[in-house]
Amino acid sequence: MYLTDEEKAMLDGNEGEAVKLAMEILVTAGESLGAQRLIPVSSAHIVLAMYKSIYDAGVEVCEKFAALGGKFKIPTTLDPCGMDTENWEEFKTPHEYASKQIRVMKAYKEMGAIPVWTCTPYFTGNLPRFGEHVAWTESSAVAFINSVLGARSNRETAVLDICAGLTGRVPEHGLHLDENRKGEVLIHLQLGNRALASWEYPVLGYYLGKTLGSQIGVVEGMKGHPSNDDLKAMMAAAAASGSLALIHIVGITPEAPTTKIAFGGRPISSELEVTEDILAKTREEMCTKDTGNIDLVAVGCPHYSIGEIERVVRLLHGRRIHPNTEFWVYTNKNTAVMAERMGFRQALKESGVRLVLETCMLISPIETWGFKTIMTDSGKCAYYAPMQCKADVIFGSIEECVESAVSGRLLREGGKRL
Ligand code: F3S
Repeated sequence: MYLTDEEKAMLDGNEGEAVKLAMEILVTAGESLGAQRLIPVSSAHIVLAMYKSIYDAGVEVCEKFAALGGKFKIPTTLDPCGMDTENWEEFKTPHEYASKQIRVMKAYKEMGAIPVWTCTPYFTGNLPRFGEHVAWTESSAVAFINSVLGARSNRETAVLDICAGLTGRVPEHGLHLDENRKGEVLIHLQLGNRALASWEYPVLGYYLGKTLGSQIGVVEGMKGHPSNDDLKAMMAAAAASGSLALIHIVGITPEAPTTKIAFGGRPISSELEVTEDILAKTREEMCTKDTGNIDLVAVGCPHYSIGEIERVVRLLHGRRIHPNTEFWVYTNKNTAVMAERMGFRQALKESGVRLVLETCMLISPIETWGFKTIMTDSGKCAYYAPMQCKADVIFGSIEECVESAVSGRLLREGGKRL
């Protein structure tokens, strides 16, 4: 692999032992990926952060880089922590688990990470521009920045993300290269002239991820003006049910002003139609049951924005949730501060809804609660929760989630839709 003089110096240890180790890992990984060289990246976002998914080995990796004197060279943000950072005891986090998570937090503090603890770093200051090369690992965020912002990142792997933050480099391969960003599969949205409802974006994403795998789709026929939150939910679901990291949406993705430009001369390998029937069937697939009591309504996967929190407050309009049902809203601290200022945090509290801070519904020890049925408005959560939370899952719109939380039971029983 070609290395610049600066990179050779890093590899020789001129910038310290942590950078040397990071370069060794990057070069080994790059060579196995067939990369010709490393490229500079302007930010990193790290998923090697939640004890539930990194285990003791992950803790040791973080501590090793910190002990070697590692300091992040580029802005480096952190994915959600493995527990609520303010109230981990209230959320029944085992003490031994918490002590390991605290070690991870300490190691990243020493290395100078920006502790946003969120899967939506693009809403909290780490916002790459069109064409900018970055090294991120959170799959939902990678799909968002490639598809909505036109920035460039692969779904980097854990450990490589730390190495990228320490050196400001990643192997040049995959979505960093123009030729690998061209469309492969053409998707026709056949929904007449209507725009998708908010709850349909994660359903569409779920279907596309499952159907496309890692292929790059080009979606034609999206009507209306999807919000950033709609696209965030769609990309998170797509990157969960499939391994994709880029979907071109014609008229939205900066690299896809037209279908022709999105394909960039590459032949269309196949075509798909998305119909009302497909959306309805996919929605059913996203539920492991469709009746009964709801133990937990969990929303905020990816982390809720202030607009989404406001919508929950509005839908509740002062009502209390059912005493046998928990309702948790996951978000980051920046958004929580705004929610506090706007009175939403208090309103949620009065309705019995908890704000869960800087953590993730899937990668925290939620199983300590023994929930049997979880309802969510997240396609990503619907995909992973049966395995990660060991519970049945019901996917629904936020309106259905709120009404079900108030009544304690799924309100679309018998096919009824809200
Ligand atoms: Fe975020 Fe966890 Fe969902 S990292 S996207 S809340 S699975």
